[in-house]
Amino acid sequence: MRAVDLIEKTKNAIPLTREEIEFLIRGYTRGEIADYQMSAWAMAVRFQGMSQAETAALTMAMAESGDQVDLSALGEKTVDKHSTGGVGDKTTLIVTPIVASLGGVVAKMSGRGLGHTGGTVDKLESIPGYRTELSAGEFMEQAKRIGLVVAGQSGNLAPADKKLYALRDVTATVDSIPLIASSIMSKKLAAGSKSIVLDVKAGSGAFMKDRKEACLLADAMVQIGAACGRNVSALITNMDIPLGRAVGNALEVEEVLEVLQGKGPEDLREVCLALAAEMLLLCHGWSAGDARKKAEDALNSGKAYTKMQEWIAAQGGDLAAFAADREKEVPCHAVTAPSDGYITKMNAERIGVAAMLLGAGRAAKGDAIDYDAGIRILKKTGDAVKAGEPVAVLYGRRDFAPSEKCYLEAVTFGACPPEAQPLIYERRGAKA
Ligand code: URA
Repeated sequence: MRAVDLIEKTKNAIPLTREEIEFLIRGYTRGEIADYQMSAWAMAVRFQGMSQAETAALTMAMAESGDQVDLSALGEKTVDKHSTGGVGDKTTLIVTPIVASLGGVVAKMSGRGLGHTGGTVDKLESIPGYRTELSAGEFMEQAKRIGLVVAGQSGNLAPADKKLYALRDVTATVDSIPLIASSIMSKKLAAGSKSIVLDVKAGSGAFMKDRKEACLLADAMVQIGAACGRNVSALITNMDIPLGRAVGNALEVEEVLEVLQGKGPEDLREVCLALAAEMLLLCHGWSAGDARKKAEDALNSGKAYTKMQEWIAAQGGDLAAFAADREKEVPCHAVTAPSDGYITKMNAERIGVAAMLLGAGRAAKGDAIDYDAGIRILKKTGDAVKAGEPVAVLYGRRDFAPSEKCYLEAVTFGACPPEAQPLIYERRGAKA
């Protein structure tokens, strides 16, 4: 087999066999196929697309290119969740204890944030003592004992994807549904859970700005799951507006604790309940109505909060020290409305950038984070405002001016209230 012949086939929309895709991925991972050939192939895929069978074969080949976590010792109820990334998206920290408190087993690896989106690992590291680096033994033992563990991603999970994604990033080939779907799903398959719920975000703060594109991506990932023997479903959720009112690591953890104690913003609570119900439906086979009711009960009764405390303590996290730390004074600055009226639109991505400028996120991989930095959003789309009234509070130790400018550019003010938008657009996957 020669890479050039396979590039030629994809260029002419002739489907590749599983063996041919494995040849490309193996050869590329080992360094036997050059970057220039792989980028030519990715560009051919970008224009010609791939069949479902090719997409599934690519996903499996990438999943098998490195470590694969074997969760079979944890039984059949292992369930993972993945978000395509958004602003203020702290749902993992709420959804996973709800699900684990109801018998689902969540043995999860999460990533760090980059650019305008935050990462679960960074949020968790704002809790003093929380360990995100666990040995394989510790990871499995905790999952078995309490049904919930969230660690940083192992270095050798789907290395073929890591290499191909980096190449796509510099060859304008990221925006291909089969390549995105296989990239995300290769890591999820390698992470080992039997059931996977995808939170595919659509809107200004999301990777997929357009709802229709988000549905296509969700469908591609659900089909990969079915081809690979996993239960996969997706919720398409709104990311035109940041989720909840906190953006920034410690601020978000604080908001998570509020929701788990029966308070917190309604939009965040609603998306979390919908995702938790979806995970319970997949891992237990409960009906949608039962799963939702049980998720609500777990949240309202404090059962999920108790599970969260158990989980954080198991990984060395000290929630009392976190609370004490939050009492300290962090420099802050109010952003005010320029005129009377309503907030008619928010650009969630720019709000993520405003938080990053405060030190809450990374402009480049490896940048240091200020866990206290971030934004408390006081007024959201649809809210009435008066000139001079605070719409947000910025926290951090950097010059507030660039972030304030960015925040004000991200918010559109108008005379009339906008039409309300749904929080959850639709579900994709096998019938609930
Ligand atoms: N996220 C991924 O993990 N892969 C992509 O290709 C795009 C977004």
